[in-house]
Amino acid sequence: MATILAIETSCDETAVAIVNNCEVHSNIVASQIDVHRVYGGVVPEIASRQHLEMINLCIEQSLSGAEYQWSQIDAIAATVAPGLVGSLMVGVTAAKTLAIIHNKPFLGVHHLEGHIYASYLNDPQLKPPFICLLVSGGHTSLIYVKDCGIYEMLGSTRDDAAGEAFDKVARLLGLSYPGGPAIDRIAQTGNTEAFPLPEGRISTPEGGYHPYDSSFSGLKTAVLRLVNKLQTENGQILPINDLAASFQATVARALTKRAIACALDYGVKTIAVGGGVAANSALRQHLTAAAANHDLDVHFPPLKLCTDNAAMIGCAAADHFNRGHRSSLSLAVQSRLPI
Ligand code: KG4
Ligand code: ZN
Repeated sequence: MATILAIETSCDETAVAIVNNCEVHSNIVASQIDVHRVYGGVVPEIASRQHLEMINLCIEQSLSGAEYQWSQIDAIAATVAPGLVGSLMVGVTAAKTLAIIHNKPFLGVHHLEGHIYASYLNDPQLKPPFICLLVSGGHTSLIYVKDCGIYEMLGSTRDDAAGEAFDKVARLLGLSYPGGPAIDRIAQTGNTEAFPLPEGRISTPEGGYHPYDSSFSGLKTAVLRLVNKLQTENGQILPINDLAASFQATVARALTKRAIACALDYGVKTIAVGGGVAANSALRQHLTAAAANHDLDVHFPPLKLCTDNAAMIGCAAADHFNRGHRSSLSLAVQSRLPI
């Protein structure tokens, strides 16, 4: 059993956790959403400065919340990639410094591997192989999880991430950042069939469609055209509830189709979902129903573990630590890195 102090600062959450393998002993997340909201999205320079202000406090809170002493910590982990470089550097530098001061091993963790491990936190009985559908503000990935550290990226987005599409469409509808929860809320009273929208399929050179890749920029443009047309016809009154419901259902259908195709093609019985968009009610309904039709299991971790947090990074690091893996203190952060 490994006890890990883990740090996650890849985007706009300063997060520190203490985990014992898959057991969470503290999970501190300082969100910067309110700071970035006025800009309509995450401003990288502001994010790294906020991480600097919050990191020490989060580390102290994590230790005191779990009533842990440094002597009880086996290793220190941090997200090293992918993400905003300035933000990653704050977390990684803090982790390396603590590793040196307290003479502990350091482990660098891939952010997407962390999201995969969030599923184990919620359900330690979950065993690979499974398909991970990771849908956040920065990623739309379908990953075949074969074992610890053995992953195959089956599909991704060719343009906007799913959460990014929610945020951009929300702006078109006059809703505030982050757009996903706002769209989800008003879509509850909207008609999903009001506006047929394109699902965004990727053509192959053979004349077919890529079964696992997504594209959301065409869908976003279709909503923009519709908004302009409706505004011209009706003045300022937009049927935003119907637009939100139609958009959300289209995204949910597209993601569900691709996740089910991966599971069936790879003979896998389980789909685990992660990332902020996993909170979306339409995605939950569509995927749960489609999985039941194909006799597949779906795991939706609690929202606190779907969105960025350090417990998932610690859980991934613990598995690597138990297998004897260690990272060099010269390991550098990277904005992009395939899993
Ligand atoms: O995983 P996350 O907290 O941060 C990263 O992007 O890494 O995901 C945030 C994204 C935002 O784009 C937000 O709009 C979206 O998740 N989101 C949702 C919902 N809740 C959050 N999208 C759709 N429906 C929701 N209920
Ligand atoms: Zn994330």
